[in-house]
Amino acid sequence: MNRREKEPIAIFGAGWVGLVTGACFAELGHEVTVRDIVPEKVEKLRAGGVSFFEPGLAELVERNRERLRFTLDAAEAAQAAELLFVCVDTPPTYSGDADLSRVWTVIDELPSLDRRAILVMKSTVPVGTGEKVRAALETRGLSHIGYVSNPEFLAEGGAVRDFLNPDRVVVGAFADADGDRVAALYEGMNAPVVRADIASAEMIKLAANAFLATRISFINEIANVCEATGADVVRVAEGVGLDHRLGPHFLRAGVGYGGSCFPKDTSALKQLASNSGYHFQLLSAVIEVNELQKRRVIKKLEKHLGRLRGKTIALLGLAFKANTDDMREAPSIVLASRLLAEGAHVRAYDPVADAGDIVRGMSSCESMADAVRGADAAVIVTEWDEFRSLLTDEIRDSMSRPLVVDGRNLLDPEAAASAGFTYEGIGRGVSALEALPETAERDTEFAE
Ligand code: UGA
Repeated sequence: MNRREKEPIAIFGAGWVGLVTGACFAELGHEVTVRDIVPEKVEKLRAGGVSFFEPGLAELVERNRERLRFTLDAAEAAQAAELLFVCVDTPPTYSGDADLSRVWTVIDELPSLDRRAILVMKSTVPVGTGEKVRAALETRGLSHIGYVSNPEFLAEGGAVRDFLNPDRVVVGAFADADGDRVAALYEGMNAPVVRADIASAEMIKLAANAFLATRISFINEIANVCEATGADVVRVAEGVGLDHRLGPHFLRAGVGYGGSCFPKDTSALKQLASNSGYHFQLLSAVIEVNELQKRRVIKKLEKHLGRLRGKTIALLGLAFKANTDDMREAPSIVLASRLLAEGAHVRAYDPVADAGDIVRGMSSCESMADAVRGADAAVIVTEWDEFRSLLTDEIRDSMSRPLVVDGRNLLDPEAAASAGFTYEGIGRGVSALEALPETAERDTEFAE
């Protein structure tokens, strides 16, 4: 295909992946029809609204209104396009496998197209899904529909940038011509295109997320050893990451990974392996380390406060990471629930995310200052920039105790100490040593 030629594109699913993909393809000049099953969502999109927070997306949708259509009708979307992108969610089932029911619904709802079209899978799916979809298409008499795996690598909060400036584009196809057509959509993006068989394309996505999660659990364990030995994980990560074979990314120690992808995809890959008779030991450890990491903050608070019953803890940040309002699998949920179970009063503030009823018993505050007023400790759970301004005299004096547990290593321990705060980071051995003189007071409190 000539790279200037524009394709009519249909997107099934107006969630993060679908809407970002649709808006970005429209930005590249393609005619895009986005189909979703939720009437309110489609109405809102037609009226120019986006129902979740993703930097730059609302502007992109607005700027490309002429090339973006929204519909509830699967047949209308499919009839309008030759490339049909599946962007529905694939949440975990109770068994930890990916739930493909929404993918199957899209296949079931495809009309009997009388021309060649290509179904393109962007949703994250287990290896082997392409083969199954191929078989389902044959059964439905849609053997003239091609199938391509084109996994997404969009990180929330930077999804538009990731789409338009990808590290790589992965295209797995049964037929080379179908793969060529999908690869052509990304021409001009200056990114390598990895052409593969379908199973390998599916595995690339799962392996990439599992490897990123592995790096996080690895650095979190190093952080825990740093705490036990007096090293500072921030310096350690810097020194390790400068090795060009390792690189600096995903080496930020913290309260563990969350979100709609890593927890789901690590579990799905682990189950995929075990369903195929292989015990993926490393990935099991990665998942377990992450679960334990979310809970370590409790011990840090107890170290300073003794029993947490009756204490007031301010959680700063609820979203699973900064620049998103997404609460899915956020470490804040586990943390808040554990604190409440210990009998603490939990107050939370997030600049964008709303916990709603996810954690019953936690109260929401309108600002950082409101959350920390009278609190026995402030815990930074999400690395929002505004929490960098925590270390003021007003905040310190407004707290019942000026204790900061920095779950994202956002603040400088020395600056915190000189501002009169007691500081605990993650894997910052220096602060662990500084905390030692308080032992006597702590012991008294434990005896309460
Ligand atoms: C992740 C991947 O980064 C994307 O490439 C992928 O396309 C996406 O999943 C997906 O499968 O759809 P996302 O879940 O949006 O994207 O967020 P990340 O930025 O990867 O962060 C995931 C979690 O890891 C967050 O809780 C974050 O706080 C945590 N994290 C990240 C760390 O604890 N340390 C780090 O060094 C990096």
